[in-house]
Amino acid sequence: MAFVNGNYGKLKESYLFANIAEKVAAFQAAHPERKIIRMGIGDVTLPLAPVVVDAMAKAVAEMGKKETFRGYGPEQGYGFLHDAVVKYYTSFGVTLDTKEIFISDGAKSDCGNITDIFSDANVILLPDPVYPVYNDTNVMRGRKILFMKGRPENDFLPVPDDSVKADIIYLCSPNNPTGAAYSKEQLEQWVAYAKKNDAIILYDAAYEAFIDEDDATPRSIFTVAGAEDCAIEMCSFSKTAGFTGTRCGYTVVPLGLKRKAENGREMFLNKMWLRRQTTKFNGVPYIVQRGAEAALSPEGLEQCRANIRYYKENCRIMGEILDALGIRYYGGKRSPYIWMQCPNGMKSWDFFDLLLTKFAIVGTPGSGFGTMGEGYFRLTGFGSREDTVEGMERLKEGFDRV
Ligand code: MLT
Repeated sequence: MAFVNGNYGKLKESYLFANIAEKVAAFQAAHPERKIIRMGIGDVTLPLAPVVVDAMAKAVAEMGKKETFRGYGPEQGYGFLHDAVVKYYTSFGVTLDTKEIFISDGAKSDCGNITDIFSDANVILLPDPVYPVYNDTNVMRGRKILFMKGRPENDFLPVPDDSVKADIIYLCSPNNPTGAAYSKEQLEQWVAYAKKNDAIILYDAAYEAFIDEDDATPRSIFTVAGAEDCAIEMCSFSKTAGFTGTRCGYTVVPLGLKRKAENGREMFLNKMWLRRQTTKFNGVPYIVQRGAEAALSPEGLEQCRANIRYYKENCRIMGEILDALGIRYYGGKRSPYIWMQCPNGMKSWDFFDLLLTKFAIVGTPGSGFGTMGEGYFRLTGFGSREDTVEGMERLKEGFDRV
């Protein structure tokens, strides 16, 4: 008899953003005349940078010629992209070995897939609120999950509590959804905790490019001494270079990182991840990797940064209107997200329904990111300027009806 994975029965009916997409599609079908302003899922709207498009076009041409055609590539990515990532990390003071970099189809996949190389006996520690993939993928494995509370009093940045014993800690900085980013001192505390407990930090840096270049806030956990002994970092071209539809990311697994299996055998996580990826993954398309390489070139970085400035300006505009309305909010400065308090003590999903039905605006209910997100709401700055302004104007004009 075939048994299914009963842990799936412990999950919410559908994934947060799939659930929202369904509700929005139903609303649009019932009200085809309404123009919906989408400030829900963090999906980019600006086109790929010109230098990325040129690199991809060149790669397409190569694929069309017998002499330059390529079939399967290395599962862990091409050397040219490893070199580009190494150079990128050097710009914020981190030295990597190319063998430590694994190119993938995005941070979401890696955040979920990395669960493969850890025992299900591990206790997981998650910030709350946080990106729901960390919770859901560990629920799927039946693992014990503990939560650390993010609240205004700790700037939504929980720091280690020695009374909590956990084996795997997920950190997302700048945080999705709150936009809060850990300082170097706070990350040092996490590294010290991980070392003391022989734990591993899974560090999601998907939003690091939203930290300004002259800001001392760490863009990588590896800027902290000793992190190479206790951390794995995941990052993505999705938000940095507008690759949400193009799909490319990378995971950094230090060569010296090792832990014991339950039978006592010491194993290197880099080798395990290589084994996992070469077995279950066939790599990212050559064309996409050439585009990602171009995004990390000096010209590509400048073009991508211009897009990020545009999204951050959207956040500034949103913040200005929320200020005028007297609504408390966080984020938007080192992140593309505004994390606002729901007005009049409303619950997150109630505010979602109200915004959708009255104003035809889509956002993301804070409770979808964890119980501490209840009463909060996330708006994204990834929309077009016109939509952002229109959405916020709608809110401003109709706010007395909320
Ligand atoms: C989000 O809206 O939180 C993100 O776009 C989801 C993702 O990156 O998978």
